[in-house]
Amino acid sequence: MHFLPLMVLLLVVITTGCSREAGDTLTTINAEDRALGKVKSIIIRGGCFGCHDINEHRFGPSWIEVSARYKNDPEATQKLIESVTHGSGGKWSAVVGSNVMAPNSAKVNDTEIAAVVEYILSL
Ligand code: HEC
Repeated sequence: MHFLPLMVLLLVVITTGCSREAGDTLTTINAEDRALGKVKSIIIRGGCFGCHDINEHRFGPSWIEVSARYKNDPEATQKLIESVTHGSGGKWSAVVGSNVMAPNSAKVNDTEIAAVVEYILSL
């Protein structure tokens, strides 16, 4: 019987501990992560992260750099859809040298490419 208060206390600690943790997790999911969630399966299927990273250039330019370069270009969406669909080379030679991107249209369809491009430009 004398364990009861201890157990109640323990329960309170566990419950409040958990709820605070859940709250923290929710607030740390920022807009970028939420947007990524929507296109994640497309990016995985397309194998984009085999060559790209969001923040640092790898074999290809980082998507932050891509977004920054096209931010004020009214034709950005079209240009990037074109590159991702049919492949691209030479535009990023200052960053990735002679590396080229092969066409991705066999792995992801037009609608999916448009969604990923919208995500990249939102970064
Ligand atoms: C085999 C490696 C590789 C894969 C896989 C790849 N990329 Fe690329 N990507 C590159 C390289 C290299 C460049 C730079 C091309 C250039 O210099 O023109 C690039 C450039 C880009 C650009 C900028 C194009 C431009 O016109 O400025 C975008 C956007 C992009 N990739 C998105 C994607 C997406 C989305 C996927 C997945 C569907 C993907 N990439 C898959 C290597 C890759």
